[in-house]
Amino acid sequence: WGTLGHDTVAFIAQSFISNSTAAFAQGILNDTSSAFLANVATWADSYRYTTEGAFSAPLHYIDALDSPPESCNVDYDRDCPEEGCIVSAIANYTTRLQTTNLSATERQKALKWVIHFLGDIHQPLHVENLEIGGNGINVTFDGTATNLHHIWDSNMAEKLIGGYSLEDARTWAGELVQEIETGKWKNQSAGWLTGLDVRNGVDSAMVWATDANSYVCTTVIPQGEAGVEGKELDGAYYDAAIPVIQLQIAKAGYRLAAWLDAIVEAEKGVE
Ligand code: ADE
Ligand code: ZN
Ligand code: ZN
Repeated sequence: WGTLGHDTVAFIAQSFISNSTAAFAQGILNDTSSAFLANVATWADSYRYTTEGAFSAPLHYIDALDSPPESCNVDYDRDCPEEGCIVSAIANYTTRLQTTNLSATERQKALKWVIHFLGDIHQPLHVENLEIGGNGINVTFDGTATNLHHIWDSNMAEKLIGGYSLEDARTWAGELVQEIETGKWKNQSAGWLTGLDVRNGVDSAMVWATDANSYVCTTVIPQGEAGVEGKELDGAYYDAAIPVIQLQIAKAGYRLAAWLDAIVEAEKGVE
């Protein structure tokens, strides 16, 4: 996702985490402001373009070698290479975050990656290989030439919300939190936590990756690549995509909160 998506995931998580999780995160991040999670939600996207952080670029996705739109699936052994992928990265940085003898800097990086990767794993094109996660599929959106990956990361959410500032994210998060607590997702949000086991990061992240990847077949390219290549997607395509984007951002924030709570609870156990 772009800035709006990541910041919104962070604000949603912030409104669901326990007080002890908030204190844990504020301590590691050295930030007690009203946006302590959102303030670091896009750090990983800057870091990946530095010399020091270049190794982390492949950790933002898993290139599922499935066959959309006929067949959508993710296979850890098939799709996660030796260098790592978003699934192994979530498992690894979750473990590092719980490693108390790690330096403060390394634990802070681990938390920033967990916050970011829990967001990215909910973007369907971050769990799909086709044309480099859709980066190679040219489309136009509101008259601007771009690519399929970019409109899923940014353009469609920004069109819906009307901007991408921190306050735009705070507002969108508030709307999605209300849908989770009392609105259209009230009866299904508990089910979003099925399969979540902080002692098994790979299996947990695979549940989320498989869930997000299913939308590649139903919503991202239901007619295959030819259905979107070179097309203007601001109409019916956008209308079908928006409910999926809202749902995936909401799930990411809700799962991130539960994940961080579980990390903090597991820590209490070992102390
Ligand atoms: N680079 C290669 N595959 C990618 C993907 N699925 N998403 C983003 N960047 C990528
Ligand atoms: Zn992306
Ligand atoms: Zn990313």
